[in-house]
Amino acid sequence: MSGTRFAFFKGGIVPIEQANISIMNHALNYGTAAFGGIRAYWNADEEQLFIFRPVEHFTRLLQSAALLRMSFPWTAQDLTQHLIELLRAEGYRENCYVRPLAYKDLNGIGVRLHDVPDSLSMWAMPFAKYIENDGGAHVHFSAWRRVDDNAIPARGKIAGSYVNSALIKSDAVLSGYDEALVLNQDGHVSEASAANIFVVRNGTVLTPPVTSNVLEGITRRTIIQLLRDDLGVEVVERDIDRTEVYLAEEMFLCGTGVQIAAVTKVEHRPIGDGALGEITRRVRDYQNDVLYGRVAKYREWLTPVYAETPEVAR
Ligand SMILES: Cc1ncc(COP(=O)(O)O)c(C=O)c1O
Repeated sequence: MSGTRFAFFKGGIVPIEQANISIMNHALNYGTAAFGGIRAYWNADEEQLFIFRPVEHFTRLLQSAALLRMSFPWTAQDLTQHLIELLRAEGYRENCYVRPLAYKDLNGIGVRLHDVPDSLSMWAMPFAKYIENDGGAHVHFSAWRRVDDNAIPARGKIAGSYVNSALIKSDAVLSGYDEALVLNQDGHVSEASAANIFVVRNGTVLTPPVTSNVLEGITRRTIIQLLRDDLGVEVVERDIDRTEVYLAEEMFLCGTGVQIAAVTKVEHRPIGDGALGEITRRVRDYQNDVLYGRVAKYREWLTPVYAETPEVAR
């Protein structure tokens, strides 16, 4: 991967060329892994790289791993320290994306979760934008259903379940859309292929609850707090019907990769007036200030990589 020189592998920082697994690996063959996606933002004025909510991300990773009966000797704080070491070794002075992976590390045959050793790796790469469509995405409703919690835990970031996301994403793009919304087994809107969703109806922001087979997004949690506490916008977590999306005034996707991306069209119907909505613009701009450390009260969410004695954020 271009721009990546090191990895956290088998408990230490090693050159990326040494961080390899076998074609016999359990996780590669059966999808028995959990992963994360963490961003760090370069603040050029302060010459500082800020990791966004790393402890929250590592806590979710450890929880997703626990669902797969994995256990590790590290806490979320320990993993944050290892990530600081990794990013310092890379020396990035630009935005970057981090990929931690907790995986079943057996070279052999046998579909199970017990009696298989666990490993955890991390690597990072420079990363600017995820979706190039600044003008607003056009989405459709996928013919696929979101993976159900009673089949594969939906609230965790389980590698095998991303076959579901990949089917949803490719069918959307190959049909001429930018993204897809996916319904859960109950027929309610759950999320996009790899992002949570918010819609605005009658001035209130709605998002599906965490019991709707959504991934428990860190960005989702962040956005709910920013809207409620700072922007004075009411947020309600409840089931959302398909036809509510057609009638929404605004809609946006959110996630670590996508950040906040406006959706302006669904199946050739404009959302609201088909342009970037006011609430979406406000929360996107405010979140951007938060990510780069420009909002004092949320500096506690940021862990600086190049501080002399880095303090691990919440
Ligand atoms: C399926 C899915 N939903 C939602 C999200 C957003 O989660 P987060 O905000 O923690 O990145 C992701 C992120 O990668 C995802 O893969």
